[in-house]
This record gives sequence, C-alpha cells and structure tokens, in this order.
Amino acid sequence: MGSFKVAVIEGDGIGPEVCRAACEVLEKTGEIFGHEFEFNKALAGGIAIDETGECLPEATVNLCRASDSILLGAVGGPKWDDLSGEARPETALLGLREELGLYANLRPATIHMALKNACPLKEEIIGDGIDILIVRELTGGIYFGEKGWKGSKNGMKAYDVESYSEAEVKRIAIRAFDSAMNRQKRVVSVDKANVMESSRLWRRVVTEVSHDYPEVELTHMYVDNAAMQLIKDPRQFDVMVTSNIFGDILSDEASMITGSIGLLPSASLGEGNFGMYEPIHGSAPDIAGQNTANPIAAILSSAMMLRHSFGLIEEARCIENAVTKVLESGYRTYDIKDSYKIIKSEEGRESVSSMIMGCKEMGS
Ligand code: NAD
Ligand code: IPM
Ligand code: MN
Repeated sequence: MGSFKVAVIEGDGIGPEVCRAACEVLEKTGEIFGHEFEFNKALAGGIAIDETGECLPEATVNLCRASDSILLGAVGGPKWDDLSGEARPETALLGLREELGLYANLRPATIHMALKNACPLKEEIIGDGIDILIVRELTGGIYFGEKGWKGSKNGMKAYDVESYSEAEVKRIAIRAFDSAMNRQKRVVSVDKANVMESSRLWRRVVTEVSHDYPEVELTHMYVDNAAMQLIKDPRQFDVMVTSNIFGDILSDEASMITGSIGLLPSASLGEGNFGMYEPIHGSAPDIAGQNTANPIAAILSSAMMLRHSFGLIEEARCIENAVTKVLESGYRTYDIKDSYKIIKSEEGRESVSSMIMGCKEMGS
C-alpha cells in the first residue's frame, strides 16, 4: 500500500476534461490495489494568467516540488495568442520542465490493433503493429536558446538559437540506450547533421555513448528522411532519440499512425523518480468543453506515472489493458476515424449491442 501526492495541473481547453478522466482512473486503480492518491490542483497556463496574472505562479512550482509527481492536461489557446512570448501560457510548460530538470521526454507510440483501421497507412505497412519510443530532449535546443527581435533598416528580424552542450546530449542519449536495452535494442538518432553544427555535435556524442552499449544497434538519420520513413515503414523504428523540436514534430506525426493524437501519453523525467506526465496533444480549443475529447492519452500518461515514478508496474499494466479492452469493445471518441459504426447511423442498434457486449466482458 502506497500513498502518493500528485500535483494536478489541468490547464486550458480540454485539459480539465482529460485530467478528470485520468484522476478517476488513478482513483479506481488505487481502490483496487490499495493505494492512496492525494490530488492537489495547481494553476498554470492561460487559466493562471486569468486568475493570477502570471502563467506559472510560484505557488504552482512549490506545490510541484512538494509532490511525488505531476499530471498535466494542456496549456494555451487563442485567447492568449497575442501575448508576448514570456507571458504566454506555453511558457509555463517550458518553465516547469526547466525548473524541475525534466530533460527526458518519453513518448511511446504503440498501435492498438483494435484501431488498425484508424491508421491512415495501408494494412501491410503496419503489419502486426508498431511500437516506437520517441526519446525527446526536453530542456535544451532551440526552445531554450537565445531568442529575440532586432530592428534593422529593412525591417525587423527575429531569431531563435539552437544549441546543445555535450552534457545535454550525453544524458539524453544514455536515456535512449537504457530504454533500448529493455526493448528491441535498436536506436535511431535523428538530427540534421548535414546542415547544423549542433547536430554534428549531437551525432558525435550519441556515437560515443553507443560504445557503452555494444548490444544496441545505432543508426543516424536526417530528420527530413525520418519524417518520410515514419510513413513509409514505421516498423523499422524501435527507439528514436532526438532534439527538443524534432521530437515535438515527429511525435505528432507518429501519433497519427496510431489513429489519433488523442492517444499518445508522455513522461517527462529528470534524475530520480519524480516526473511530469502529460498527453502529447494540446488544449484542442476547437473541441474544448464539449466532453468529446479523447481521454486515452491522459489516462495512459497516468499509467506511465505509476510505472516510472511509483514503480507500480502491475497497476500500470492494468490501466493499459483496460484501455485496450475498451477499444476492443468498440468505444470510440470522434477523433478516431475507423470503420466503427457511429451510433447515430442506421446501423446504430448493431453498434449499441456490441458496446453492451463489451461492457459485460469488462465487468466479468
Ligand atoms: P492540439 O493538439 O491542441 O489540437 C490539434 C488537433 O487535434 C485539433 O483538431 C484537436 O481537436 C485535436 N485533438 C487534440 N487532442 C485531442 C483529443 N484528446 N481528443 C480529440 N481530439 C484531439 O494542437 P494545436 O491546435 O496546434 O494547439 C492548440 C493549443 O494547445 C495551442 O495553444 C498550443 O500551443 C497548445 N498546445 C499545448 C500543449 C501542451 O500543453 N502540452 C501541446 C500542444 C499544443
Ligand atoms: C508539446 C507541446 C509544447 C512543446 C508546447 C505547447 C510548448 O507542443 O508538449 O508537445 O512544443 O513542447
Ligand atoms: Mn507538441
């Protein structure tokens, strides 16, 4: 029996809806396995700007520090899009990652075979499934480099500097190789070393780290090719390790291979057990408040929390299996476009009865 303090940062848009679902699932898991979760809400993002004038109030950072982990929904939305960079809701997320030293962002992209028809790729391309772990560097690179605007005769110029230190690359590479040791032992390091100096350093350091992992096969790939290869043959990938911005982009792409961005969880980790767990999607302002958001990314993020921060492996698997069962039972949110018959259609009754069957199965 464990007792765990979870800081819950619901944020904006669909953040509160998906966090509620994840907290309910954690609560239920706690009941079944005899653990207690103490949820403490904190403000960050647009809602924090509205209520306190700051996107990341000090009280939020303090609560996070006093907690065992963080569950975060999403931040941002059109209401705050005209604020200056520092004042924007997204700055809160970057601030939390940096303040808490959460440099390693694990983004697993696994296809649920019940959703194979929601994958836009041909059936023979996904075969018996894909299972990719994107290891994204999270506290460096262009997100945290020097940035600004400069006046010039010909108008304004804006810049964002991409840079990486050897230490930053080394620690994320170690994380990727350690992960690969528990998987298929293949790492693809994604960079733009044909153009960027920071990528050339990245490639050198990743290669050096690989010498400590003789069992792991390392390949290097340029990011443009990687974006293409993900669509052409996603099964070639096991672990992909990459920079902050490339990881951000490639993980959204990978999510669509699994059927929807609403499915992919993530864990943001530093040294030690503490972590922040968040879906990879954003605040989805277009569907916020309608209770139609897919909660699976947030629910699976809570499973990652149990595994990575609390060492509750069986409990994490239980949540993951429950998600698989629900999908196998035919439940779908609207973001999943597969051949499942929507209950509003003519074949409604057939679909409803298959749902009832699913419920019976789940209860048994
Ligand atoms: P988004 O991920 O919010 O939405 C992209 C599309 O995917 C939308 O059509 C949305 O409806 C859909 N979608 C996303 N999550 C879904 C879910 N769980 N269920 C069903 N559909 C879902 O990306 P965006 O539109 O580029 O960004 C919107 C806002 O969110 C911006 O302010 C952005 O900065 C912010 N954002 C925040 C985070 C975060 O807090 N971690 C991540 C990405 C974007
Ligand atoms: C994500 C988001 C964030 C990022 C934004 C909102 C700062 O897109 O978590 O994927 O780019 O890291
Ligand atoms: Mn993103």
